[in-house]
Amino acid sequence: MTADQVGWGIVGPGRIAAKVVGDFTHVDGARVVGAASRSLHRARAFADEHGLERSYGSYIEVLADDEVDVLYIATPHPQHHAIAVAALRAGKAILVEKTFTATVAGAEDVITTAREHQRFAMEAMWTRFQPAIVAARDLIADGAIGEVRQLQADLGVDRPYDPSDRMFDPTQGGGAMLDLGVYPVSLAQHFLGTPDRVTASGSLTPTGVDTEAGVLLSYADGRVATLAVSLRHHSPGAARIVGTGGWIDIMPRFHHPQSIVLTRKGAEPETITRPQTGGGYSHELIEVTDCIRAGRTESAVMPLDDTLAVQRILNDICEQLGVVHREDDTVAV
Ligand SMILES: NC(=O)c1ccc[n+]([C@@H]2O[C@H](COP(=O)([O-])OP(=O)(O)OC[C@H]3O[C@@H](n4cnc5c(N)ncnc54)[C@H](OP(=O)(O)O)[C@@H]3O)[C@@H](O)[C@H]2O)c1
Repeated sequence: MTADQVGWGIVGPGRIAAKVVGDFTHVDGARVVGAASRSLHRARAFADEHGLERSYGSYIEVLADDEVDVLYIATPHPQHHAIAVAALRAGKAILVEKTFTATVAGAEDVITTAREHQRFAMEAMWTRFQPAIVAARDLIADGAIGEVRQLQADLGVDRPYDPSDRMFDPTQGGGAMLDLGVYPVSLAQHFLGTPDRVTASGSLTPTGVDTEAGVLLSYADGRVATLAVSLRHHSPGAARIVGTGGWIDIMPRFHHPQSIVLTRKGAEPETITRPQTGGGYSHELIEVTDCIRAGRTESAVMPLDDTLAVQRILNDICEQLGVVHREDDTVAV
């Protein structure tokens, strides 16, 4: 790291990496050094397209670049763990796409390694950094809706079934829960904390991954979150946080909203609009860059304990649905 710039490396130049890289123009103090792929050809094509200086034809190569301080890991979920651990051992910080890993053991290993090596690590749960979500968090902290008791959220996409698509392929961590379910589960974790009981039901694809699910997160004191996800049909992507003094609607799609509507008990609804900057990924990139420049090893907004709690819930749900995920450590370098 130079005095004023954090060097970033991109691992896994796929669809999301192509979107996220465009948002670095909104991040002060960050420089994208290059992109790493399992193929030099793909790394070069990505670097050329996005104006990056360097391309690496394997994931190991980027770990040896002293100008790279932090890796943005954008491979499929089972291909996060091994790269994340290798990066931390090489002294790099990491921003790991959601879902953090494919398994609880994988998440525990990454977190333990980050703490042992005192390197920054964060799950790329961009929702928590959206300005509209920040507004909701601030209102709730100010008591605008009283005590939070319930949360509802849905997220559905109409994805044509294709066994080779990452979403349906078990070797790429397919299924609705790890790809979509992480958003409502992380939202519930953020506003209600870790549940005492997780109950799920749903259906599977012919490849054996979950395609639809309904989830009830329950708390011993009576609070609940009701969540629904689907790969079979589009759904609004709405979320509502209900308290003893009113509720907040997070307008679709709740995982990257532009606005929220606050309804205080007995009052007219108030719309609060807080647009995102760029594609909405800039906010998490700013958080990581600022944390690294400040010498912090975790984000207070997306702490590792929350990531682990969410991972436990997701894998619990998957197991109730009959889906057992595995890490793919062959991808490592
Ligand atoms: N935050 C968001 O809004 C958002 C949106 C979409 C996806 N995501 C997350 O981002 C991650 C990647 O999703 P994506 O849609 O970008 O996937 P993708 O288009 O399939 O890209 C993934 C990249 O990972 C690399 N890779 C490494 N091992 C692989 C393997 N065994 N199989 C397939 N690819 C492999 C590939 O690059 P090389 O082979 O060239 O190295 C590939 O280009 C997932 O964890 C997903 O949940 C986040």
